[in-house]
This record gives sequence, structure tokens and C-alpha cells, in this order.
Amino acid sequence: MFSAQIYSNRRKNLLSMVAKGLIIIPGNNESPSNYKGNTYRFRQDSTFSYFFGIDEPNLLGLIDVDENRQYLIGDNLEIEDIIWMGLQPSMSEKATSVGLTMVLSHNDFKTFLSNAISKKRSIHFTSPYRAENAALLQNLLTISAQELDSTISMELTKAIVSLRSVKSTEEISEIEQMVDVAWIMHTTAMKIARQGTTERKIAGIIEGIALSHGKGVSFPVILSMNGETLHNHNHGNILQHGRLLVTDAGAESELLYASDITRTVPVGGKFDARQKDIYNIVLQANLKAIDMLSPKRQYLDVHLEVGRVIASGLADLGLMKGNIDDIVHAGAHALFFPHGLGHMLGLDVHDMENLGEDNVGYDNTVSRSSQFGLAYLRFARKPLPGYVLTDEPGIYFIPALIDLWRSEKKFTEFINYDKLEAYKNFGGIRIEDDLLVTADGCRVLGKPIPKTVEEIEGIMG
Ligand code: GLY
Ligand code: MN
Repeated sequence: MFSAQIYSNRRKNLLSMVAKGLIIIPGNNESPSNYKGNTYRFRQDSTFSYFFGIDEPNLLGLIDVDENRQYLIGDNLEIEDIIWMGLQPSMSEKATSVGLTMVLSHNDFKTFLSNAISKKRSIHFTSPYRAENAALLQNLLTISAQELDSTISMELTKAIVSLRSVKSTEEISEIEQMVDVAWIMHTTAMKIARQGTTERKIAGIIEGIALSHGKGVSFPVILSMNGETLHNHNHGNILQHGRLLVTDAGAESELLYASDITRTVPVGGKFDARQKDIYNIVLQANLKAIDMLSPKRQYLDVHLEVGRVIASGLADLGLMKGNIDDIVHAGAHALFFPHGLGHMLGLDVHDMENLGEDNVGYDNTVSRSSQFGLAYLRFARKPLPGYVLTDEPGIYFIPALIDLWRSEKKFTEFINYDKLEAYKNFGGIRIEDDLLVTADGCRVLGKPIPKTVEEIEGIMG
């Protein structure tokens, strides 16, 4: 955990941003996998972790804005729990570790809330993403599921997003350490990506590396020769010489901060000429974003400029044609780059997406497009210094999408479908780094992970 002072300061900041009432921040509970006692790895709620720090189930945080009081809610362990889980600190000891002095049992909290409800006090909470917490809130507040949805506090949601978006020095250090773990994961994957090795073996080894340095992976490992499937969690193939391997994987720290890195490498260690051509376009796109990212510019502009790099590179190869600005304006390049350039990174790999993607990535200066491809841009507004964003352009040859667009005669003025036929077995390429926004630009976090053709061939050879 960070020092108690850090959690106290975070809560103090939150308290000053909400006008009145009570703020409830539920932590997560254990989640059963196949029966109650056999659970998934416990993952604390990120907002609870940010303000209350304790990485244990069955707790809630309560902030009474009107009385300027903060409570940790939970029950002391009973002898049955101690027999199975060992002696644990008391609730007051846990509270002290994060700068709190007040503790309420679950029963006392229920009474406290009934009292607040009868006095018609405002009660703030964010949208629950786990059914158990939705049920808990409904039960505590004696409201229906519809009422729960309609009483989500936008005031609280916006305050949390604004606080969690700007990463402090100690948070940046956590993320950067996890990028360094991703360095070990990715360079290990590169060294063993040889003909005959299974995807599963590499995925298992790199997941083990993440587990041995922290909480494990920050999201299920994406590792596949079929890299044209954007989030391919299937690890069923045996690597074949001549194919590309996309590995999108990051680590989660003990304090729950994430890294998110993608590299694409040729099985066996040597890119062929065609792979090199496409790879270098994606690399130029990734570098363009590093060059452009700054608090002075909307991320939307960076995304669109990256689209121009991709369209222009594909036009040089004869796969696209026409005016580059027109291509990007029409969204024709989304056949090859059908997702957004990146997302915010922090305690969640897609940071705070549970609080609403638009609440994080959009504001009154920029609204989400409905255009295919651009609609997936998760973050579009101007970032502030201290934001951490991913930079993850890609080029994919998705046979089903190529066939669909071709049958619809879509963008025939911009896409050379005849030439594309030969690329339907290509797969995909994505390159992803984690960038910290600084006062006048950005910094790539972590120890540099091999990225150019020469660096990748060097480490694999
Ligand atoms: N690396 C997974 C994602 O960005 O969605
Ligand atoms: Mn990502």
C-alpha cells in the first residue's frame, strides 16, 4: 500500500469536490468460478483501492461530506474465518493503515443509511459493474434496479474521473515498473516464438512472469498468429514459420496499476519483405503519435493523423488510392485500422471504463463519432500532464470485413480490392506503448522494448 497520508489526501480532495451528502464506495467481493468456495483471483474495485487502499473483499468506504467524516465498513473476522485464513488485522488496524479512525460494521452501516434515507440526505454512488454490488446497493437503499440506474451520481463520477486521471509520481512509478515487467514478458515471448512452439506455451510463460512480479496479467493475454482478430484470447495454434505473432499483454502491480504493451514479431525471427513493409507503416504510425501527443492537442487529432500515416503507407503499396485527407475523412482506412488509437491507463487497463467511456475520454469540446472505426476511439479530448495513454495503431487484414466491404462496393474509389486478395492470409500487426503526458509532450514509459525491425530481428536471432 501507499502511505496512509496518500489515501487521506485523495479522500480529502474528493470531499472538496462533492457539495453535500454521503458518498458510498463499495469494494469488491470474492467471485465464485464454479462453486462458492472456488473463486476467481480476487480483484479489488479500482476506485475503492484508490481512496481506501485495502486489498480485501467485503469492505465499503463511506464519506460523510456534511459531517466531514470518513468510515471503513466491514466486519471483524470470526474464529471460523481465522481457522481457514489465519489471523488478520482487526478492522480498526486496517482503517488506521489508510489514515481512517472510524469503522462501522455492516449492520451499523445499514442502520446509518436508513437514518440518512429518512432524513432525505443525498447519497452518491457510481454505476456498479458487478451484480453483487448492484444488489447490495439496491438492498441498502431499498430501491429497484431502475431506480438505481437513474440515481447514479454524475457529480461523484466526474469528481472521481478528474482525480484518478492525473497520475501522481508514485502512480507513474507503479505503471512504469509494470512496463518493465512487460519488457521481460515480451522479450521472453520474442525469444521463444519459433516454428513448432504452441501459442499456449508462450502465453502461459508470460502470464507466469507477470504473476511472479505482482498480481499477474492486467488483462487476459492476447497472443495469436491470427492477429487480425483484435482481441484474440484463443491460444490454440502451433506457430508456423512465415506467420506473424501478435502479443498484447501487460502486468498488474501489487497496488493494481497496469501496463499494456503490444509487439508483433515474425515466427522464427525474420520479417519477409511484405511483412516489413506493413510493419514499418505501423511503426511510423506509433512514432507519429509519440511525436504528437501533448496537452496542447486533442487525442482525436493524433488519432486522425495516425490514420493519415496508415492510409498514406497503404497507398504507397498500392492497397489504397486517392487523396489521403479524403480517405481519412470518409473513414475508408478503417478497413485496415478499425479501432481507436488508444485509451487511458492506470488502475484499470482501460482506466475507469466502468465509470463510462465518454465520461473519461470525451468532454464538451469533443463528442464521439458514429463513423465505423472512429466510433471505437475511447479517448478523444485534450489530455493533461500526468495522464497516461496507450498508443496502439495497427493494420489488420480481416478477410470477412474485406469480403463484406467488397460485396457492398464500399469505398471502391479508395480501396484496391483486387490487390488486397493476396493479403487475406497476412494476419495483423499492432504496436503498443504506454505514454505519460508531460507539460509539453510525452514520455514513453519503461525500459524500451524492441520495436524496430532491426531490434526485433536482433533479439530473436
Ligand atoms: N490491450 C488490450 C486493449 O487495449 O484493449
Ligand atoms: Mn491497449
